[in-house]
Amino acid sequence: MTTSHTPKKLRSQEWFDNPDNPGMTALYLERYLNYGLTRAELQSGKPIIGIAQTGSDLSPCNRHHIELAKRVRDGIIAAGGIPFEFPVHPIQETGKRPGAALDRNLAYLGLVEVLFGYPLDGVVLTIGCDKTTPAMLMGAATVNIPAIALSVGPMLNGWHRGERTGSGTIVWKSREKLTSGEINYDQFMDIVASSAPSVGYCNTMGTATTMNSLAEALGMELPGGAAIPAPYRERGQIAYDTGKRIVDMVWEDLKPSDIMTRAAFENAIVINSAIGGSTNAPIHLNAIARHLDIPLDNDDWQAIGHDVPLLVNLQPAGEYLGEDYHRAGGVPAVVAELMKARKLPHPGALTVNGQSIGTNCENAENLNTDVIKTYDAPLKKKAGFINLKGNLFDSAIMKTSVISEEFRERYLSNPDDPEAFEGIAEVFDGPEDYHHRIDDPKLALNENSILIMRGTGPIGYPGAAEVVNMQPPAYLLKKGIHALPCLGDGRQSGTSGSPSILNASPEAAVNGGLALVRSGDHLRIDLNKGTANILIDDEELQKRKDDLIAAGGYKYPASQTPWQEIQRSMVGQLDEGMVLKPAVKYQRVAQT
Ligand code: FES
Ligand code: MG
Repeated sequence: MTTSHTPKKLRSQEWFDNPDNPGMTALYLERYLNYGLTRAELQSGKPIIGIAQTGSDLSPCNRHHIELAKRVRDGIIAAGGIPFEFPVHPIQETGKRPGAALDRNLAYLGLVEVLFGYPLDGVVLTIGCDKTTPAMLMGAATVNIPAIALSVGPMLNGWHRGERTGSGTIVWKSREKLTSGEINYDQFMDIVASSAPSVGYCNTMGTATTMNSLAEALGMELPGGAAIPAPYRERGQIAYDTGKRIVDMVWEDLKPSDIMTRAAFENAIVINSAIGGSTNAPIHLNAIARHLDIPLDNDDWQAIGHDVPLLVNLQPAGEYLGEDYHRAGGVPAVVAELMKARKLPHPGALTVNGQSIGTNCENAENLNTDVIKTYDAPLKKKAGFINLKGNLFDSAIMKTSVISEEFRERYLSNPDDPEAFEGIAEVFDGPEDYHHRIDDPKLALNENSILIMRGTGPIGYPGAAEVVNMQPPAYLLKKGIHALPCLGDGRQSGTSGSPSILNASPEAAVNGGLALVRSGDHLRIDLNKGTANILIDDEELQKRKDDLIAAGGYKYPASQTPWQEIQRSMVGQLDEGMVLKPAVKYQRVAQT
């Protein structure tokens, strides 16, 4: 039911219904009549609602939004609004060279211009594939008109020979088998294809499921909206409800800044640990927060999130997939478990339905405690991130919940020095260098090697590449060494289960500590103390830095497109959300 409302002057009326300026009104109005809209409609005082369409043939993870938008329209019209669907720059995680993350800020900029410059009173943000979610939330944060997110939903579970095959995760697993000769190229392709059985986004707890869950955790989706699989009937139904709800949000003037508060971000950090969320989450949430002028950094992620246990048993950390997550109760069931243990920091935080997250979720049932564990019997304890620091970088994230038993025994079980290890650096300058040299026997890597990937931060590799999780060479895999410690200034796919040290900031390309490491250097990583250091003295380190700068600084490949060059000239580091630095000062621009 539509809530009763007092008519008020809508933002869109400045364009379409401004008798004080008939000339401009006529110009703004007439072209929108040319496909059948009537003047009566556009001057009826009904809210005009944008549908920010991220789906297209180029972005298959979000393509189902083209269908869902029809239900969103129905909902908007039913509630007394007028829908205007418009395209968003596509961001396909798996299809974009050199990497989809480069386009997050481009889509953000585009959305800001559309929301600011056109007669829109509210907007439905169609989210899904990894970077589409933060791009949409960042844009809504900057403009600050009423906004609601609609997830496209995960794909159905993938199956191969009776086993669940999860997006991305199956690639990492099967490429090991391909390398060792256990399966051939065709078998490899078939197994990977089985993980994509329907429309929707990655069915694992990768960056997509993470960011869609966190959009709900932040209060920006209707309750339960994150986990419904794309082809399920409930997905179309919640699309309709989302369209209806945004119209009321316009009348209530419920804006992103009312919902995405510091309290909402603190809730989201706790929920991220409980779901086993991706290491990309701190980048994106820190970015959204910056566009709202809310202080949030990686110390907050460790302080608020590290001790929270892992409840959601999804790949890559666990065994299940998206359909199972939805059937067990999705985000509301996770929140209910946290609330029972009194671990949700702010149950009173407001959400898009006008109620608090606590009210929305307190009675949500956990329908499968094997998929969503109870707080007292979690999958893993302390599932959040550690924020490491030292002479290698000011901040780097490690997801401790994906450390395997094999890895823990080899590196973290010295009783005299728990949670710490030392090793010898092998440095790679970008993914191409790694692929060329990793199998070269001259490197003579062994279990004491630490693989370093640099030149892959926001500036070195525009957008920061997802390449830090490096596979050991075939000769070590054959000896049963499945993971070496990896460290780098790039990112890692959320679908990868490697315990890498990621997102190191500042990156090598701005002559950060990683630019000074040399192969053969001894490194010490101490998870207890939260430190990562090259074991050389400060003088030697300073000398290396002086020499590097004298030689012109760390070298990285030239830009290939105009946007790469533009973004490089103004992008910040991963710990600060990789935002466009000049954009941050533009706050709540629809109100100016
Ligand atoms: Fe699009 Fe994973 S590649 S959601
Ligand atoms: Mg990814």
